[in-house]
Amino acid sequence: MRISLVQYAPKLNDPQANIDATSALIQSNNSDLYVLPELSNSGYNFNGFEEAYRASEELDNSNFIKALLALAKAKNTLIVSGFCERENRRLYNSSVLLGPNGIIGLYRKLHLFLNEKDIFTPGNKELPVFDTPWGKIGMLVCFDWMFPEAWRKLALQGAQLIAHPSNLVLPYCQSVVPSYALVNRCFIATANRIGTEDQLTFTGQSILANPNGEVLLRADTDKSQVLSTEIDLHLAKDKFITQKNDAFKDRRTDVYGNLDPK
Ligand code: ACM
Repeated sequence: MRISLVQYAPKLNDPQANIDATSALIQSNNSDLYVLPELSNSGYNFNGFEEAYRASEELDNSNFIKALLALAKAKNTLIVSGFCERENRRLYNSSVLLGPNGIIGLYRKLHLFLNEKDIFTPGNKELPVFDTPWGKIGMLVCFDWMFPEAWRKLALQGAQLIAHPSNLVLPYCQSVVPSYALVNRCFIATANRIGTEDQLTFTGQSILANPNGEVLLRADTDKSQVLSTEIDLHLAKDKFITQKNDAFKDRRTDVYGNLDPK
């Protein structure tokens, strides 16, 4: 399959600009899966809950999701995007997986970063993994990167690719993504944003790593870019790291516990 990392600068509180920018970037290229940054419909650095509420959308009543669904259908492709989601009076920092036939999956960020704690409700959808024609896909959002248990749990549930919409501001994540990909023997696609909102500067360098921990794609720190390559998700089914070491079966869950699916 062909995968694209879409790196750009979503505009705070300008939903139409974000629809236009994401549509143009997706249209510029042919892929089977596009991964977009966190909060791509809204921008990131809200001045409190009420501003974020005004920028949020319901999943089933969102112009942004409708535009991406139309693109997914027209291009017969999958799209993962971060999404400022409203449900009743609650806001979630979510990620959606969309396909030609509609919404395939929803994940809500579990680990909220800094001021997000004053705005969003932590995720209540656990860590789902979704079947696609290419293989199983799980999602994490940005600061979830800090928690190895989240990557592990998705991989144990069979995720062959973890799509990771991000608005990274700390300089660490892009260094650990290849290691998480290696130890979980899966693909990781981190689509980060660029640009500055008030005092926050986002770090770009969107990254795709394979199950050997090799970096297949890495974007610039400050350029709007769509980077693409071919990957084979079947490689993520092989958990052997030597002929005699299966990275999952060799785990000593009797010593340190078990994250296997329920
Ligand atoms: C982050 O979680 N957006 C840093």
